[in-house]
Amino acid sequence: MLDTLGSLERSHTCGELREAQVGESVVLMGWVAKKRDFGVFTFIDLRDRHGLTQVVVSEETASEAHAKAKNLRGEFVIAVKGEVVSRADGTRNAKLATGDVEIKVSELLIFNDAKVPPFQLEVAGSENLASEDTRLKYRYLDLRRAALQQNIIMRAKAVKAIREYFDGRGFLEIETPILLKSTPEGARDFIVPSRIHTGKFFALPQSPQILKQITMIAGLDRYYQIARCFRDEDLRADRQPEFTQLDMEMSFVNREQVYREMEGMFNHVLKLIGVDLPSEWPRMTYAEAMRRYGSDKPDLRFGMELQDLSESLKETDFAPFADTLKAGGEIKAIVVKGKADYSRKQTDELQEFVRRYGAGALAWIKVGTASGSERVLNSSLTKVLGEPKIEELASKAGAGEGDAVLIVAGKKSVVAAALGALRNEVARRENLIDRSKYECLIVTEFPMFEHDEETDTYVAAHHPFTSPMDEDLELFRTGVNDPSQHHLLGQVRSKAYDAVINGYECAGGSIRIHQQEVQALNFKALGMSPESARERFGFFLDALEYGTPPHGGFAAGIERTCMILCGTENIRDVMAFPKTASAQDLMMDSPGEVDESQLKELGVKVT
Ligand code: AMO
Repeated sequence: MLDTLGSLERSHTCGELREAQVGESVVLMGWVAKKRDFGVFTFIDLRDRHGLTQVVVSEETASEAHAKAKNLRGEFVIAVKGEVVSRADGTRNAKLATGDVEIKVSELLIFNDAKVPPFQLEVAGSENLASEDTRLKYRYLDLRRAALQQNIIMRAKAVKAIREYFDGRGFLEIETPILLKSTPEGARDFIVPSRIHTGKFFALPQSPQILKQITMIAGLDRYYQIARCFRDEDLRADRQPEFTQLDMEMSFVNREQVYREMEGMFNHVLKLIGVDLPSEWPRMTYAEAMRRYGSDKPDLRFGMELQDLSESLKETDFAPFADTLKAGGEIKAIVVKGKADYSRKQTDELQEFVRRYGAGALAWIKVGTASGSERVLNSSLTKVLGEPKIEELASKAGAGEGDAVLIVAGKKSVVAAALGALRNEVARRENLIDRSKYECLIVTEFPMFEHDEETDTYVAAHHPFTSPMDEDLELFRTGVNDPSQHHLLGQVRSKAYDAVINGYECAGGSIRIHQQEVQALNFKALGMSPESARERFGFFLDALEYGTPPHGGFAAGIERTCMILCGTENIRDVMAFPKTASAQDLMMDSPGEVDESQLKELGVKVT
């Protein structure tokens, strides 16, 4: 027979009791984390989200409770009434906040039993956890683990700190709808059929972008929102189809003014983990970040910058390099300190790695020491380039004795992608990242467009509402209006920026186009006919004509920010109910099928 709660009230949480409460009588409630029987004594570790308290049931002083305790198993839900007592010296547990005390039980209530969980909740070392799929299926059990609960608690604190920050800076929290029209951010939309308007669909917001701009047009300067966003895109380790942003927008501002709020917000939030970021973050243009790190979100916790070897190789007749340079490509390298002893197997693996980014091959130089102290150069290129050239390249790359040089040749974009990724991969493999460091950066002047080679079209690099740099406005106009000069669009820089912490893009934003004529030109640049621009965004083009202030803002990924706060590389660790890498909810088993009648009502047919 199970007990009822009745009018019983809990007096303390399981993480609260200390020496100071010794002698008090208390009521605790929670889950049985562990039970140990020692004949006349039964010890129970009682757990709730606040912590763990040791409970002792003695046959001598509480025989009824002791008999009941025999039936307890892990995850049973119970209440204990009893007295707080000091633990005897030698039995105190310094690792536990409540480790100096225990509860001497007088009464035990069992509210509910529990099946044996399909996996062990608390295990030593994350590598011993049950498979993630199993844990996602039983998310309510996985969420009972202290580590995961701490992340969810940290997330709540982060969101609270964000609200604190913006409230304190005079921003208004404004909610925007979820049932919307397409708001493009470069992903596919999730769409929702309308029953009342058969054949018509809402789109879920990829972000509240257009609406926050309209709040500026409406004069509601300084908007913010904790906004849910939906993007049907290929998932990666730091992406989810449904995620949350801190979204903000302000009027009459230049880029520096937005950066200040971005810095201010992140600096305020990172204080939660005792990290002090500089009040003004370093800035770096996109072009410089790509040149030095091969990435628009460089992890600055380690060096290993890309070294350009193109100049030293411009006279080479080694065909792969000569052809690369002739075609406008480049030859770049990274130097891995102390890795002259890379084995053939290791360099082969790294070659496989760069090939995933489109690189044809990975060449290498190892600056080793022979048995005596003589310096020896070993290279995959010795035969084709000769010793003196190898020596020159090693020195140009800045490699010293004991170092390895890893070289990629190809199109600029491929070299950047391959070496940028290799830089991170090598740092991870060789443990070059100081995990106690927090390195932040604002990357500026992103390109306005990305070129799609297959279709020879340009797509918005940020989103279609981002303003070109004033300096590049003429280039932009010519690129749009003169078909023979279309390629100029590839050179236009925008007023878009990202906030990067430890190699994660934590926020992105821009100064927006606030003039209707420029916005219409941008739709044209993106290949939209005036009719289709009007059909999709007519309401917005109209709004722009009724007195739109200059405005700009940013959105920060709440999950990415929490990944930094919680020190995890898995986005699911900072979400209560995440989806899998294939966009499924394993607990609810969604997406799922719906009734034929429901589809009929919606006028939707599955083909
Ligand atoms: P952007 O697309 O750069 O900009 O998104 C802003 C931030 O949101 C986070 N983010 C994601 N987090 C988890 N899963 C995803 N699939 C995902 N996609 C993005 C990132 C990113 O930096 N409307 C613009 C903002 C603006 O211009 O003001 C926007 O959404 O941390």
